Amino acid sequence: MYDRAFAHNRLGSYFKTFQKSADVIVQQWSARGKDELFPICEETFKFVLRSSMCSMLGEYCENDEVVYNFRKAYLKANEELSKIPGDPAHCEDPKAMERFQEALTFMRKTVKCALEYHRTTTSHGNLAVDEIVEYASDEETVICDCITYLFASFHNTGKMLSICLFYLAKHEDIQDKLYTEILKVLGNSQLVDESNLRSLKYMRQVIDESIRCGAFGAFAARYQDVDITLGGYKILKNTPVVQALGIVMRDEKIWPMPMKFDPDRFNEENTKARSPFAFKPFGFSGKRACPGTKLVYRESSVLLATILRRFKIELHGDQQIEIEHGLATHSTEEIWAKLVKR
Ligand code: HEM
Repeated sequence: MYDRAFAHNRLGSYFKTFQKSADVIVQQWSARGKDELFPICEETFKFVLRSSMCSMLGEYCENDEVVYNFRKAYLKANEELSKIPGDPAHCEDPKAMERFQEALTFMRKTVKCALEYHRTTTSHGNLAVDEIVEYASDEETVICDCITYLFASFHNTGKMLSICLFYLAKHEDIQDKLYTEILKVLGNSQLVDESNLRSLKYMRQVIDESIRCGAFGAFAARYQDVDITLGGYKILKNTPVVQALGIVMRDEKIWPMPMKFDPDRFNEENTKARSPFAFKPFGFSGKRACPGTKLVYRESSVLLATILRRFKIELHGDQQIEIEHGLATHSTEEIWAKLVKR
């Protein structure tokens, strides 16, 4: 229903917002001492949260304090949620639900204030929220849909970008190859936009391989519409079916040495040689596939080009990451890096 917000003719308008958020990170890190360590997960989360809030809800979210407080509430809600089992009556900490609700109320209030600001101050028609307001029947639906889109937007993208920066820091040769492409396509000052995105081919390969290695978009789920037989098994109509997208992304028959980070798996030749169903991290069936697919490549390319043009990323020590699969895949520990000015 809201696909129009991410339709081709609207995508170009998001670059400016993503660029502003990337510039904030780069400016902050340019001012820091050369030995200061860069917490990759924390910084990518800040970037995607800011760019998601601004692109979804508009100017109100350009204020750092608004983003900071929303982030605090989001982290609190997550922390409390992890203490609440499926049946809240069995929760060991009876106050956890109360604190979760408090954090959620705060986030809802922020969305409401942003909507009010947008309604009274800024021009209409440019934001994702304009589509939501047009189609949703009441304010409750608008707020819930905004929160759903926001979470869906920053959750996976932020965690994917942190894993991407980890692999770039770990594989100097791959980082150098990407940096060379950025300079070749964009030179020293051109920004990523709709006209040059397609030329950043290796960039896309790096993003795809980060998604694959982290198995982001690990699953989708549907009720079966019709009776079928698949691989010798009968699946009856109305059976709940989990599409194990992440398992396929790590299948060693399709991806030899699946845990090796190798963006060349996504070059033209190798891509042509595989089934198109081998890599479907955004879902593939019907209207409910991820509406943010095109946004992910735009947002990620802006951040990577902005950081890599200014810094070389080096891992601090010999870190390994342990990836945990939850609602979104994530590294269990913070990843520390050094940003060396170019
Ligand atoms: C690396 C980043 C992302 C990955 C891997 C990802 C993956 C997925 C997957 C697998 C689904 C389920 C699809 C299905 O059921 O067939 C989904 C749904 C969704 N995604 Fe994404 N996504 C990402 C980023 C985004 C972004 C940036 C947005 C912002 C608009 C977004 C918004 C949504 C929404 C709203 C849904 C629910 C769609 C529905 O049920 O109608 N996602 N995503």
